[in-house]
Amino acid sequence: MIDRAVRLKKLPPYLFQEIDRLKAELMAKGVDVINLGVGDPDLPTPGHIIEELGKAAADPANHQYPSYSGMNDFKDSVARWYKSRFGVDLDADREVLTLIGSKEGIAHLPFAFINPGDLSLIPSPAYPVYNVTNMFAGGESYFMPLTRENGFLPDLKSVPADVARRAKLLFINYPNNPTGATAERDFFQRVIDFAKEYDLIVCHDAAYTEMGFDGYKPMSFLEVPGAKEVGIEFHSLSKTYNMTGWRLGMAVGNAQVLDGLGQIKSNIDSGAFNAVQRAGIAALEADQSCVSEMQKIYQDRRDALIGGLQQIGLHPEPPKATFYVWCPIPAAFKSKEFTALLLREAGIVTTPGSGFGEPGEGYVRMALTVSKERIEEAVSRMRKLSF
Ligand SMILES: Cc1ncc(COP(=O)(O)O)c(C=O)c1O
Repeated sequence: MIDRAVRLKKLPPYLFQEIDRLKAELMAKGVDVINLGVGDPDLPTPGHIIEELGKAAADPANHQYPSYSGMNDFKDSVARWYKSRFGVDLDADREVLTLIGSKEGIAHLPFAFINPGDLSLIPSPAYPVYNVTNMFAGGESYFMPLTRENGFLPDLKSVPADVARRAKLLFINYPNNPTGATAERDFFQRVIDFAKEYDLIVCHDAAYTEMGFDGYKPMSFLEVPGAKEVGIEFHSLSKTYNMTGWRLGMAVGNAQVLDGLGQIKSNIDSGAFNAVQRAGIAALEADQSCVSEMQKIYQDRRDALIGGLQQIGLHPEPPKATFYVWCPIPAAFKSKEFTALLLREAGIVTTPGSGFGEPGEGYVRMALTVSKERIEEAVSRMRKLSF
């Protein structure tokens, strides 16, 4: 038995193990499983982006090690995109860092700023990477519950002053995974004031800003004056352009924070493939109609799922953004039990809310990553269940 490092032993138990086992068992029996579990777009990357990758991959100029901080042309494109989409000015040289997907940057950030015993303020439920990598870096996590009552926004006033004083990083994520909640200027303003009061670095994860519905355009944290003094924003091409497999993202904002993150990265990775960054330029610079087409598709799926769930007595809020439906479940069930019921009795994979943190108990997350027809099929299977 090869002994693993303590940091791995300290990982919370893998909650999805039982679901994965059941899913594999059902699929082996030939059950037609509908997967609403994963947040991975089902539709392909738009053709013009693939074409650019093909050309760039054939160009020997792109075959060597990339620059650590990212290709200048890509960083320029990111700065132009931030200006046109959010009205935010960025110095492409100092205020943009290319990432191998935003997960990579989020995961490395604590290593730049957290000393053993330092504290990070982390929402719960949340994308698990914030807590796990803070822990890997030796940090402790103080969880800020996201509940229906607080609009799934952390109540900063309820963080005890001694905790806030000890904290170094504050993670936030809007539009939010898993709750689908959105945040507006007044919330971001409170975050900036709080960060200034307690000398915190704000890490805003903005992976879903391009997935807004009914004409809603989620804002960037950096649109609020003062944001750049206190933090950075992580962004990604993954969800916007159906490019999860390509691994391309960016961190933007405070130059000193980005410099620290860049220092960690240059000791660990060697940058994103230049050809992928060229394709990223094509994605950001081209006409954005592919983005609005995706928004329409997800909106249609959202309406089908929400309408169907309401008919069977479940009442999730329709998300204004993200491809996640955060569905409250009947009180008789734990979220893990409800997920198991949906899988066993209806062949539908969902994610138990508690898997994202204890305050997620009482919910399951459903991802809009299958066609409207499959969503309708899922609802009709759920209708036959008794709960
Ligand atoms: C909230 C959130 N942040 C970041 C990511 C990571 O995205 P990527 O590494 O593909 O940019 C995800 C992926 O699911 C996510 O849900």
